[in-house]
Amino acid sequence: MAVKEISPFDFNESPFRVIGKDWLLVTGEYEGKSNGMTASWGGLGIMWGKPVAYIFIRPTRYTKEFVDKADGLSLSVFPEEYRKMMNYFGTVSGRDEDKIKKAGLTVLHDNGRTYFDEARVTMLCRKLYAQPLASEFFIDKSCDEKWYKDDYHTMYVVEIEKLLVKE
Ligand SMILES: Cc1cc2nc3c(=O)[nH]c(=O)nc-3n(C[C@H](O)[C@H](O)[C@H](O)COP(=O)(O)O)c2cc1C
Repeated sequence: MAVKEISPFDFNESPFRVIGKDWLLVTGEYEGKSNGMTASWGGLGIMWGKPVAYIFIRPTRYTKEFVDKADGLSLSVFPEEYRKMMNYFGTVSGRDEDKIKKAGLTVLHDNGRTYFDEARVTMLCRKLYAQPLASEFFIDKSCDEKWYKDDYHTMYVVEIEKLLVKE
């Protein structure tokens, strides 16, 4: 299958499906090392006149260290046959194992961002904004009570600089 770069405006998949059901692999790279984690919360849209993705990372994730240090990151969507691998990236920490190596993924690089040949959709992104969520800003307090003790996600707004799809 050939990889094609398309405009985010021509991306015709449901973000609800892609993020909520297929899930994203969020991958950060810093000083030649990379780590990734599964994410199923987030969004795609427009902010500050740019095509963006919104992702939410808890402070405990090893991936957060990479994302915080680097200027960019990649978001990858894999075909259904990689479901087991996505569960692995979402349950094991890169602090304990080299997940990318163990998964046997083919690593590619673009401007300090690690991404993968096996992905069916790849978003190569540049960080625009990061802010930790906080208890006092919840309007529906039940979301706060249900999801948090003191491990509030940091929200990242990232510009989608390149969107690659396999056809
Ligand atoms: C389906 C699924 C979705 C997840 N979504 C998120 C998410 O959106 N944000 C987050 O911080 N963690 C999320 N996680 C948890 C991380 O992927 C998990 O803690 C992972 O092991 C962190 O790896 P790391 O320590 O190598 O970064 C999700 C896990 C699964 C299985």
